[in-house]
Amino acid sequence: MSTQFLAPTVTVEEEEVERSLRPRRLSDFVGQERVKEQLAIALEATRTRGEALDHVLLVGPPGLGKTSLAYIVREELGVGIRTVAGPGLERKDIAAILTSLESRDVLFVDEIHRMSRSAEEILYPALEDFRLDIVVGQGPAARTLTLDLPPFTLIGATTRTGLLTTPLRDRFGMTFRLGYYDPGQLAAIVRRSAGILGVEIDTDAADEIARRSRGTPRIANRILRRVRDVAEVRHQGAVTDAVAKEALELLEVDDEGLEATDRELLRTIVHKFDGGPVGLSTLAVSLGEERDTIEDVYEPYLLQLGFIQRTPRGRTITKLGRAHVGAVAEPDAKLF
Ligand SMILES: Nc1ncnc2c1ncn2[C@@H]1O[C@H](COP(=O)(O)OP(=O)(O)OP(=O)(O)O)[C@@H](O)[C@H]1O
Ligand SMILES: [Mg+2]
Repeated sequence: MSTQFLAPTVTVEEEEVERSLRPRRLSDFVGQERVKEQLAIALEATRTRGEALDHVLLVGPPGLGKTSLAYIVREELGVGIRTVAGPGLERKDIAAILTSLESRDVLFVDEIHRMSRSAEEILYPALEDFRLDIVVGQGPAARTLTLDLPPFTLIGATTRTGLLTTPLRDRFGMTFRLGYYDPGQLAAIVRRSAGILGVEIDTDAADEIARRSRGTPRIANRILRRVRDVAEVRHQGAVTDAVAKEALELLEVDDEGLEATDRELLRTIVHKFDGGPVGLSTLAVSLGEERDTIEDVYEPYLLQLGFIQRTPRGRTITKLGRAHVGAVAEPDAKLF
């Protein structure tokens, strides 16, 4: 149970809850002030001109609001949206989707860095000139048919920009990077979600959940739902600070918001690899996790906390990281 807050996958059931909690308008979207400001200007200008919004790339760790923003753009522009996932997307899928778009619609491609090269290539002229080049026939008889497309907006979401090819990255007019939320913003999100879910929650309790949500709205919402369960099953239903603390303890979420898997990662570096450096692949095998999961889901927040460091030779634990898992740093250890 303890790994579920960080779980990179979102279940079908959770998707439904997420949809109900998702901010619909830009004004409901908490935090990321600079992103909102820039987006608001672009939306306003686009509406005035009656054009399609420039292509937008959204970058950031899981659960920070990329999908939410894509849907907000659709809502704010009053246009249609098509959502597809990068992995598994083929040329013919893209051609079919592009030709079915209406003028100014949004095409949202999640995990756009995992699109195949051939799918990506068919997108280039579509993004630049709203043109689709289709090859018909084979060999010497092959010809290229060019179709005009309605102006549309591609919104791509990715966890890291470094994963995108340069030609694709260059075709986005705007790139927005989402950063971790501060506790005050997360508390506002928790209170808003509690309101939607009909949960009575104390200010202190919302603050406590916010502090332990690793700067991530999705995790704040996940914790809120589990805390609500504890409040309903063991108490009278209202979420007080004491109930929140009890639930967080039960869920093994510590003061920094770390879960069992995070602590295991830190301990593995300390005990199995002598504090590092240890290469990502070795670490992944040792933990029985995918490389990508470690890099996208676990590491960013540990780096942000200053618990680990990335060096050219691999990951190392820091003094802070050691202290957190109760491992005394080498020089100090000699004192005892
Ligand atoms: N700024 C925000 N204000 C309020 N709620 C938010 C905000 N950002 C995210 N959320 C909440 O967190 C949930 C997860 O956000 P979202 O699905 O947009 O993240 P994501 O970046 O697309 O994640 P992934 O990379 O896993 O696809 C949303 O359902 C929403 O309830
Ligand atoms: Mg998403």
